[in-house]
Amino acid sequence: MRPAGSTLGVNISDRQLAALKLALFLLCLLPLGRLGWGAWRDTLGANPIEAIQRGLGSWTLNFLVITLAITPLRRIVGWAWLGRLRRMLGLHAFFYAALHFLGYLWLDQFFDWSAIGRDILKRPFITVGFAAFVLLLPLAATSNRFALGRLGGRRWQALHRSIYPIAIFGVIHYWWLAKRDVATPALYAVAVLLLLGVRALWRERERHEQLAGKYAPQQSPPVRGRIIPIISRRH
Ligand code: HEM
Repeated sequence: MRPAGSTLGVNISDRQLAALKLALFLLCLLPLGRLGWGAWRDTLGANPIEAIQRGLGSWTLNFLVITLAITPLRRIVGWAWLGRLRRMLGLHAFFYAALHFLGYLWLDQFFDWSAIGRDILKRPFITVGFAAFVLLLPLAATSNRFALGRLGGRRWQALHRSIYPIAIFGVIHYWWLAKRDVATPALYAVAVLLLLGVRALWRERERHEQLAGKYAPQQSPPVRGRIIPIISRRH
């Protein structure tokens, strides 16, 4: 069986990876199941609509942070297969964002399109949340092999870097909504800054290493045979 990743002594086969992906998929649906169960049993408190909306918003942000954490984690622990879970996590960020947005359109605004348009333009926390969602759309649409092939690796990667502003917008959205009690948004802000900071640091270090490699003094090859002086000294 072909190993899916084999660094630092952590080998996992394709079969194990498939089982892991299935378990992760079910785990990703757990928060939604809990919200659905709570709504069914009427245990979401005095304002269930708000609880659902907030739960979906929080999980959108959680999945964005977890997706951003995969690459640094993979580099630190050296488990290559971690990278193969990233797409599923990113798609769940989109899935929860879509439900969160749908909840807003339906439960908050009753599909009153002119009120929705006004709200997006008037309330800054809604504007920035909406911007994050719009930016997520092309990422979700191109998260397949076909799109990767069509766009080419470089363009695909450049497009998918918009997950960085999306995460920042998500944190700002939460921060502005929270107004005074910003303890939890601050935690997300620290997590996002750390995850983006470590990338910037690594990129800078790689750039330095590349430059050092390019301009390092060339070592002359060892001289073999008899040395013939170019300038002969006269006595
Ligand atoms: C990537 C996109 C988004 C992220 C990461 C996100 C995240 C969040 C978070 C973390 C909360 C607060 C949860 C809590 O208090 O525990 C929230 C609340 C909220 N979000 Fe979003 N959101 C996003 C997109 C949107 C969009 C597109 C809209 C609507 C246009 C929206 C509307 C709201 C509203 C109305 C609330 C307040 C819910 C309430 O208090 O009833 N969000 N969001």
